[in-house]
Amino acid sequence: MCGIVGYVGSARSTEVLLGGLRRLEYRGYDSAGIAVIDADGALSSAKKAGKLQVLADELAEHPIADGPTGIGHTRWATHGGPTDGNAHPHLADGGRLALIHNGIIENFAPLKAELLAEGVEFTSETDSEVAAHLVAREFRQTHDLTEAMRRTVALLEGAFTLLAVHADQPGVVVGARRNSPLVVGLGDGENFLGSDVAAFVSYTQRALAIGQDQIVTIRPDSVSVIDFDGNPADASEFEVNWDASAAEKGGWSSFMAKEISEEPEAVQKTLLGRVHDGAITLHDLEPIADRLQQVDRVIVIACGTAAYAGLLGKYAIEQWARVPVEVELAHEFRYRDPVLDGRTLVVSISQSGETMDTLMAVKYAREHGAQVLSICNTQGATIPRESDAVIYTHAGPEVAVASTKAFLAQGVALYLLGLHLATLRGTLSSEEIAAQVAELEALPPKLQQTIDDAADVTTLARWMADTRSVLFLGRHVGYPIALEGALKLKELAYIHAEGFAAGELKHGPIALIEPGQIVFVIVPSPRDPRSLHPKVVSNIQEIRARGARVIAIAEEGDAAVLPFADEVLRIPLASPLIEPLLAVAPLHMFAMELATAKGLDVDQPRNLAKSVTVE
Ligand code: M6R
Repeated sequence: MCGIVGYVGSARSTEVLLGGLRRLEYRGYDSAGIAVIDADGALSSAKKAGKLQVLADELAEHPIADGPTGIGHTRWATHGGPTDGNAHPHLADGGRLALIHNGIIENFAPLKAELLAEGVEFTSETDSEVAAHLVAREFRQTHDLTEAMRRTVALLEGAFTLLAVHADQPGVVVGARRNSPLVVGLGDGENFLGSDVAAFVSYTQRALAIGQDQIVTIRPDSVSVIDFDGNPADASEFEVNWDASAAEKGGWSSFMAKEISEEPEAVQKTLLGRVHDGAITLHDLEPIADRLQQVDRVIVIACGTAAYAGLLGKYAIEQWARVPVEVELAHEFRYRDPVLDGRTLVVSISQSGETMDTLMAVKYAREHGAQVLSICNTQGATIPRESDAVIYTHAGPEVAVASTKAFLAQGVALYLLGLHLATLRGTLSSEEIAAQVAELEALPPKLQQTIDDAADVTTLARWMADTRSVLFLGRHVGYPIALEGALKLKELAYIHAEGFAAGELKHGPIALIEPGQIVFVIVPSPRDPRSLHPKVVSNIQEIRARGARVIAIAEEGDAAVLPFADEVLRIPLASPLIEPLLAVAPLHMFAMELATAKGLDVDQPRNLAKSVTVE
């Protein structure tokens, strides 16, 4: 939430800042602003409510002086509405200092009262402006922006990434972070700061991950890092493994359309190097290899779509490795006093690796003796650095706010974990493992086939553009898929949508069915050994009898659903645990197409931000 970019180098800050903000806009799009210090040491700023383009238009009409030092911000509003005045940067010291903030300063009220008593005048309703005036106050004492920042963070409670510039110290940007992301881009005669590497990847792929409670000072030729006590600190350098083109639309109508099209590739890349000759090799787990042998319980913690991926993993891990798996929303987990010990493996799942609820749950789990394995899609992110081990999904950058390709990559990573645990625990034979590996390897072309064959989804979505409510039913692995289908429709098309376990229907939700109610049903394979297929076909008949319009997603050749469904979308055959994953792309496409038919922005849905870095 909130995108942050900082730059020192040549005289083209405005271009770098706007480019960085364009790539970070998925983090928030309520307002945007920049501040630049020119070659003469004068600070100018501009900020506007609305999407980044509003600021870009404003700057085109009324340019500010460009210069070698600057900071930029794109906001997801927390304290104070999305207005020009509440947009960042916030100015202090008579307009000589500018500051931007991502996070929430929980003790802003007493600090503001203290500053007001000192005669400081506030111009916004934000918590962030407090930090600007505090850094200004400390700068007046120290004449050193790094030290002023250090003294300021000692006063703050909550989560923050702060960047500040001061006209009296041109050529310097100072950043600080606690529980909010910040990475450095290492250039040649220029350096960058960003909420994530997307901010600067078109200039450099060399990056430094700034650790928790650290302060970084960038100049054109140097980067120095200290901790909040002022001691020199290490920051780990890494190479960004994707280039700027991966985060471009590349001819697609939206990032969402592009990212759905990349679902097969996301799965393939997540499997790459981890499956060989019918076996699993997860070098990622080496840091916890010893303790993994002892695991007697798995708890998956995640939020939103990532939590639904966790549910997929529950079915696979329990069936294959015979170890109990609980799946819990990260924000509920740490407040219920969970029972944890050294034999508990906590698996956190996060595309961004920055979700505050998940990060806090990870810290809690480790503090209480559990080992934490993270499944993450973002290099240099906080959650993997706070974990004992990490399996990176290689879905590539996900720019659209709603998660799509990462969901499948997360599911596949959990399936790999399940097979790895089954190997360790001897719960599957090598032939059984090889059979599942073959199924996973066959998934990308089948996903591609599903996407290629999904023209009917577009027609259906256009036909349903006025629909007010859609229900999604699934059983077993189809249940988390139903939840994901419903979430995607809510967030993209702003339509009431609910996902249910099909067996739960008769326990209450069937009361929602009235003539014309649209219901998607993910139909289990007729080959499923649990005989769920006839039960779900019965569920379809029950809702049809009450007037529902049923869209079944069923495997090729399943004729039993035909008499009872209004539409049937076909998916290729796969094993019962894996086949429901093939229903994901049609549901993602349906939500996207329906939102498009309603004229909505599928990449930046209202009220949302991709990376939720506040609790
Ligand atoms: O970055 P994360 O995977 O931790 O994000 C978790 C959720 O915030 C995220 O999946 C969210 O539910 C998306 N809006 C789903 O499309």
